[in-house]
Amino acid sequence: MVKIPDSRSRARSRQVYLIFGQFTTLPKVKTLYFCRSCGHESAKWMGKCPSCGTWNSFVEEVVSKAETRSAWKSDSNSRQPKAKMLSHIAANQEMRMTTGNLELDRVLGGGIVPGSVVLIGGEPGIGKSTLMLQVGLDMRKIKVLYVSGEESDQQIKMRAERLGKNLDSTAFFILTETNTQNVFLAADETKPGLLIVDSIQTLYSPVIESTPGSIGQVRQAAGELMKYAKETYTPVFLVGHITKDGSLAGPKVLEHMVDTVLQFEGDQHLAYRILRTIKNRFGSTAEIGIYEMLGTGLREVNNPSEILISQKEESASGTTIAATLEGNRPLLIEVQSLVSPASYGTPQRTPTGYDQKRLNMLLAVLEKRCGFRMGTQDVFLNMAGGLRVEDPAIDLAICISLISSMDEIAVSDRKCFAGEIGLGGELRAVTRIDQRISEAEKLGFEEIYISSFNKKASENHKKIKVKSFSKLSEVLSDLFG
Ligand code: TYD
Ligand code: MG
Repeated sequence: MVKIPDSRSRARSRQVYLIFGQFTTLPKVKTLYFCRSCGHESAKWMGKCPSCGTWNSFVEEVVSKAETRSAWKSDSNSRQPKAKMLSHIAANQEMRMTTGNLELDRVLGGGIVPGSVVLIGGEPGIGKSTLMLQVGLDMRKIKVLYVSGEESDQQIKMRAERLGKNLDSTAFFILTETNTQNVFLAADETKPGLLIVDSIQTLYSPVIESTPGSIGQVRQAAGELMKYAKETYTPVFLVGHITKDGSLAGPKVLEHMVDTVLQFEGDQHLAYRILRTIKNRFGSTAEIGIYEMLGTGLREVNNPSEILISQKEESASGTTIAATLEGNRPLLIEVQSLVSPASYGTPQRTPTGYDQKRLNMLLAVLEKRCGFRMGTQDVFLNMAGGLRVEDPAIDLAICISLISSMDEIAVSDRKCFAGEIGLGGELRAVTRIDQRISEAEKLGFEEIYISSFNKKASENHKKIKVKSFSKLSEVLSDLFG
């Protein structure tokens, strides 16, 4: 075979070869480079991604230019494109479908929007398949098509039985398939009101040549499903795996494509799971849903504060309750710390569910502004329920818990705290104090400690005593004398 450079076309894929004395064109193989972190596409390899700035993230993938073949078989191509006037478009705000799962509905912003594509990401074994199966089985009035590329129909049936649902009364269909075209054929026949795909990484589109799970395939399969959703107004749930570095499904591009991105997270060893909104075109991203993994599936936790505060006979030193906010949801969380003299070397600072640097800062404030010798102490800090807290209003509860542990003086479990600590040892105002106080009041707390800058909000609460202070040292002397 003699290669003859083709002067008319520079593209590698179009090079002309002389085979058996005849000029032929080899099948068109086109490769592109994709950034593993954000999905940025490039014709050549690059050391640094110009889009997300990651180094060494480009991988080569074979893509064939068969885009012209209709990926989702519909006659949309023949339709005349026509722009519509905004005022002529009927808004279908009210058309949200409720899933019957309060936590999921809340996270979605009040139910499923027809034609929307929701991506649910999470580490293996966290419960994504369980959640999707449960939601599907609970949708009594709507036909659900569950496409699984990971489990056999037998396995799904066993799982459904384990969930203890009445399987007779549901219109729940299972398809074990990985080819997107076959999925669309089945969807065409079943006409589901909700399509669930578990998982997007197992699907492949015959339109392009890369292997299932590769960035090109995931993009293509997701793109076809998007098109299906938008054209048939069928909501689609996509389950996505999380890669080692914690990003969803490798290519971040999926997150750009879909309407809503949810993340299912939690500690494998703890029963609580949190469903968090990362992106939502139809609602707030500040919402969370809380579940508990039981032997019989996921239980919705509608009153999370109750599970985040341990039931105990008497107060122990080092334990305090913080009135925090996760998104729009007030949560009362138990903070536990253990402070003990460091036996040798550098003292340890080990926070779980809290930022280490922030803990160091709080310790420095206690040392410098309040005169406690924290530098010689080992400090361990724990958030109940395996939660990760970023709300700065937890600062005050942490400081109180540290001193309570160091001095071995218990703080009454009828008191709770909400305040941010500044570098000067001052107590700063926190957002939505009213909501926090109301939640504490509802759960029967007797006193809440807040910043004096938040004082105004305290007037509407009768059942709880609101104590306001402007300095951390004042709170400490009020509690510990
Ligand atoms: P699964 O939904 O398969 O996780 P994912 O799809 O995210 O990989 O959940 C698997 C885990 O959940 C598994 O470790 C067992 C546990 N589990 C229960 O504890 N109770 C149940 O009823 C079910 C179905 C699963
Ligand atoms: Mg699964």
